[in-house]
Amino acid sequence: MKPQTPPQTYRVKSFGCQMNVYDGERMGELLAERGIVPAPEGEEADLVILNTCHIREKAAEKVYSDIGRLVAAGKEAGKAPLVAVAGCVAQAEGEEIMARAPAVSIVVGPQAYHRLPEMLDRAAQGERATDTDMPAIAKFDALPARRKRGPSAFLTVQEGCDKFCTYCVVPYTRGAEISRPFSHLVAEAHKLVEAGAKEITLLGQNVNAWAGEDEKGRTVGLGGLIRRLAQIDGLERIRYTTSHPNDMEDELIAAHGEVEKLMPYLHLPVQSGNDRVLKAMNRQHTAESYLRLIERFRAARPDIALSGDFIVGFPGETEAEFADTLSIVDEVRYAACFSFKYSPRPGTPAATMEGQIPPEIMDERLQRLQQRIGQHQLAFNRASVGKTCTVLVERKGRHEGQWLGKSPWLQSVHFTGEHAIGDLVEVTLAEAGPNSLGGILRQTVTV
Ligand code: SAH
Ligand code: SF4
Ligand code: F3S
Repeated sequence: MKPQTPPQTYRVKSFGCQMNVYDGERMGELLAERGIVPAPEGEEADLVILNTCHIREKAAEKVYSDIGRLVAAGKEAGKAPLVAVAGCVAQAEGEEIMARAPAVSIVVGPQAYHRLPEMLDRAAQGERATDTDMPAIAKFDALPARRKRGPSAFLTVQEGCDKFCTYCVVPYTRGAEISRPFSHLVAEAHKLVEAGAKEITLLGQNVNAWAGEDEKGRTVGLGGLIRRLAQIDGLERIRYTTSHPNDMEDELIAAHGEVEKLMPYLHLPVQSGNDRVLKAMNRQHTAESYLRLIERFRAARPDIALSGDFIVGFPGETEAEFADTLSIVDEVRYAACFSFKYSPRPGTPAATMEGQIPPEIMDERLQRLQQRIGQHQLAFNRASVGKTCTVLVERKGRHEGQWLGKSPWLQSVHFTGEHAIGDLVEVTLAEAGPNSLGGILRQTVTV
């Protein structure tokens, strides 16, 4: 490759989960330290980082089509951008990307992106650089301070996964479970609040597996961390995602009943409602144990909203087994859900299992499942009508004077009034649709 002029502008495109969004923000902060700024809207960037997701086949394929598009746009503009591939596809298929896509200068895994500046230096010399090491904690230590963001911020507290569900690539792309130290997290949360955050969502592939030592040297879990963060003045709301049913501690359940700033919302994927399928998935829990766990959350916080993830068409799934998934959706009455067709991922045990389900059956099951989920979501929203709650204002709506924000139960709420982004307002929920609610403004709680 020819030596390149150092980039002055960048754009990060993050795909996949919220942890990638967090990583994308942190890469931006690293680049800002070098004086590289975000490319203005509508303009080509000198450096494009594709922060990729490997979870399903379609997500992974996007990388190559995006690289193709970037190269074509660069030709048209007479200047090819420097292309970096980060994230989980970089981790899983780094060498393949380098071989297949000569336009890519940098391949950097999710645990190595703190080394991006050095890699840019190498790219400037005309070298192509790959780094897919996994020094997770070293990465966090090497990152610069947090910068100003919107009122709702992400904070990665835990990374990696040791669960090895038989369909999933995450344990391979993100590595083993690690918890960031308590003191680092308290410090980063303070920085986020100073930068304007009113709400922090704690992130982890298995966020409730987080464990650490508090200021007094006591071992604490996520519930203890949340209690400590709730003491930060100016931080009004705390959320966390994604939880795994097997790492749930009493302390976290109790926090839902006791910590006012902890929002009444729990994302707890179950994947299937059938025990044979759950076993084949290596989920290590049953439908029954999952339902009992939810009962405990509801006992601690009766208005808690539940959301989940589902996979339809796991190898060998029969019609009767799929019907158990529909039943568990009815039983839990989720406020929201993500549902996916099973996607065989290279290197995972399920990819070579017998009984792979034909696509048309998967399509049909997904449609039925999504219809059922939609019914419960609408019912949940309708049941909220008449409630008065706080809404964190996140952005302007489409109409004049209209604002959009989130209810404590993570519903999108729109209302009209004189406001600013970051205000916490009191709103009475007045009308419900499947994906949002209309509210009537009562008063501003904090400004
Ligand atoms: N750690 C979380 C989820 C991480 S991945 C948990 O265990 O719950 C997010 C979601 O993607 C999963 O919950 C699952 O529903 C879905 N998913 C993961 N691998 C998949 C695959 N091979 N095919 C289809 N969906 C998948
Ligand atoms: Fe993947 Fe299972 Fe780990 Fe979730 S718990 S990240 S689904 S292996
Ligand atoms: Fe995708 Fe990696 Fe997240 S595979 S879902 S970006 S952990």
